[in-house]
Amino acid sequence: MTFKEKLNDKIGKIVTKFTSVSQDENGNVEVEKTITKGMPELARQAAAEGAVLLKNDNVLPLKKGTTVSLFGRTYKDYFFVGYGSGGDVIRPYNIDIAQGIENCDKLNLNYTLHNIYMEWREKHPVSHGYWAHWPLRYEEMPLTDEIVASARAESDTAVVTIGRSSGEDRDCDLANGSYFLHDEEIEMLDLVTSYFEKVVVLLNVGNIIDMSWVKHYGDKIGAVIYVWQGGMESGNAVADLLCGNVNPSGRLTDTIARNYYDYPSSAQFGNKKTNEYTEDIFVGYRYFESFAKEKVLYPFGFGLSYTDFDIKCDKAEAIDNGFDFEFTVTNTGDLAGKETVELYLNKPCGKLGNPKRELVGFAKTELIEPNGSQKLTMSVDMYQLTSYDDCGSTNNASSYVTQKGEYDFYVGKNVREAEKVFTYYQENTEVWEQLKQVCAPKSDFLVWRAEEKHGNYFLSTKMVAKEKYDLATRILNNLPADIEQTGDKGIKLQDVKDGKATLEEFVAQLDNVELEAITRGDYKMDSPLGAKGNAGAYGGILESLRNKGVKPIITTDGPSGIRLASCCSLLPIGTLLACTFNTELVEKMYTILAGEMKEKGSDVLLAPGMNIHRNPLCGRNFEYFSEDPYLSGKMGSACVKGIQSLGGSACPKHFACNNQELARTTNDSQVSERALREIYLKPFEICIKEARPKNIMTSYNKINGVWSHYNYDTCVTVLRNEWGYEGNVMTDWWMHPSKSIEFPKMRDQAYRVRSGVNLLMPGGDRVTNGKPDGTLFATLGKPFGITIGEVQQSAKWILKSVMEIE
Ligand code: BGC
Repeated sequence: MTFKEKLNDKIGKIVTKFTSVSQDENGNVEVEKTITKGMPELARQAAAEGAVLLKNDNVLPLKKGTTVSLFGRTYKDYFFVGYGSGGDVIRPYNIDIAQGIENCDKLNLNYTLHNIYMEWREKHPVSHGYWAHWPLRYEEMPLTDEIVASARAESDTAVVTIGRSSGEDRDCDLANGSYFLHDEEIEMLDLVTSYFEKVVVLLNVGNIIDMSWVKHYGDKIGAVIYVWQGGMESGNAVADLLCGNVNPSGRLTDTIARNYYDYPSSAQFGNKKTNEYTEDIFVGYRYFESFAKEKVLYPFGFGLSYTDFDIKCDKAEAIDNGFDFEFTVTNTGDLAGKETVELYLNKPCGKLGNPKRELVGFAKTELIEPNGSQKLTMSVDMYQLTSYDDCGSTNNASSYVTQKGEYDFYVGKNVREAEKVFTYYQENTEVWEQLKQVCAPKSDFLVWRAEEKHGNYFLSTKMVAKEKYDLATRILNNLPADIEQTGDKGIKLQDVKDGKATLEEFVAQLDNVELEAITRGDYKMDSPLGAKGNAGAYGGILESLRNKGVKPIITTDGPSGIRLASCCSLLPIGTLLACTFNTELVEKMYTILAGEMKEKGSDVLLAPGMNIHRNPLCGRNFEYFSEDPYLSGKMGSACVKGIQSLGGSACPKHFACNNQELARTTNDSQVSERALREIYLKPFEICIKEARPKNIMTSYNKINGVWSHYNYDTCVTVLRNEWGYEGNVMTDWWMHPSKSIEFPKMRDQAYRVRSGVNLLMPGGDRVTNGKPDGTLFATLGKPFGITIGEVQQSAKWILKSVMEIE
């Protein structure tokens, strides 16, 4: 070890102790290993179903009896999940690719080569780094002609694994070994492709990486699969795909561009202070399909199968508040498989400048045998035809409007290969819903807009619509009334649940000490009130609260399993799950996890991660689903329904615009109100309306100058007043201290509570060493100061979630 490595190692150990992060990719932590019934099968199915086959020149599936030569050390040192809170699960086991091949009775492993790798690995062990210093890849074993030639003598099929990771607090690098291939990997591919005729490349990644090398190698590489990070069953799932036990059916949830700089956000991503979301609503395929089709290598929704499907539209009709579709999917090939059908909408470009395509529906078939077929139905709500007018271009500022013109629906296998199946004509521009301006930018910057001339789309810019209202007045006009404090009347929380008392009557009993405590957690991660290794507790954190029947609620991370100091299942990452396009499967898997939560002592799973893949380098993309808000919303709903199916709680996060890990607690996402609503808030909107999570977590970053955990407009005006959210709003772990912009005498806890962020998690201990920080009631009774009613209001939402968590 060099001096620097030694120092890093030392720092790592200290940081690890401090953060209680026990990330251990090999699952070697000493706990009793338990396996949750039914989970291995579903996790394996999901891991295989979310893999995306990008290229296949008749190499796959491999013939029965094929001996496989595995190259690339990550086939063994596999990245089963990304780093940080989202992946830190002590799992019962990990199946790597070698084990997967060994478990598969149709394939053999080239042991001579495998042994060479095993020997080299012993001398070159991997390190998982430490918090925010996770590895992005591992050093590769250098190959020689001799090694590769002798491997070729034993087998004609090479499977090369390229491994990448990233994680919380660490973005990927726009560099070799992260976004680009590393020189060591290029050397490996050069050598392997010069000896082997059949080469399959597996991408064991959490993020999209540069794919220009596929063209460079041409027919020297026979097949390429994004196998992502598939959790504990990764290797079995990969073997299932290679041998054809499972026919690939995953689809890309992000566009793969030719060049990193083709992604519209690339100009701003990585800025430390502010990120202007100049591209506006033109995130991912919304940009590429409207303006730059030629910049795409693999379009959104793309993914191959070992068989072929025909999609026929049987019915497309307008109904009362939307549209109904019926399709027949027929397997026209030789192997059984599943197909995903994607429905896109081309709204009129109009004055608001809509993109050319938006995903408005999708459905997945069951396994269809050759010549077999299945009917699928989809519905589109009229609301999905609307666009948000944030600047008054249609003379309807702050409204969702259905613009006049032609609405064309396209159906197909991906955003590119989709046929027009229906057209609806809207006679006049109509207001769907008049809302209030919220969280708009405060400074000038240009954003993109689309203009259409004779069917062609042109990119132009406009000045972003700025904030025009007084937030202080809005807040003061909406202050809740105080509930007269009565002292203890003997009402227990169960009485409220049983309908014998009202929540107001219960809350009236709480004194200010109790009110302060209920609006924060038990200070520490790993609270003694719950299972070892938890993320924190809230609710009954004082004896007096427990005496009133308020139980402590135990939170744990998510999303890829339960992060505790005991053994829990490790699930595939969010991106992979979304690539299945199979909401039923995802819900089922999280339903089984709900049982595991009960068993292990988790009341709230801090999941799903629902931020948008704005840029391929974001370190937490692996936890999130897609560049598309509709798909993200639907996947989030599936997770929430599963997690809450046995009475526990989900906690979708991070609300909102946490699209970069660098400087994540201070970065300011400057975004138009339209993009905020249509792209970044939309997944949460869909999930909240459909699945009713009992908790939601704000993000660390600012949105248009206001920290998300002090953001009245996102947390009250939109979340509660527009969407009807009735759960609890919690911060991400700790929060940035700040005085209120509108009421400068007020700060921190008072500012947060006034902003409708009910609960500080895990509590304010970092600064106050186990005592309240004194900021909540500091302005009580003073002009514009915090009111008892506001704190009671927060307490009500928190207690409601406590009551509803079973
Ligand atoms: C992460 C959250 C996580 C929380 C608790 C934060 O650093 O951003 O996603 O749930 O820690 O571990």
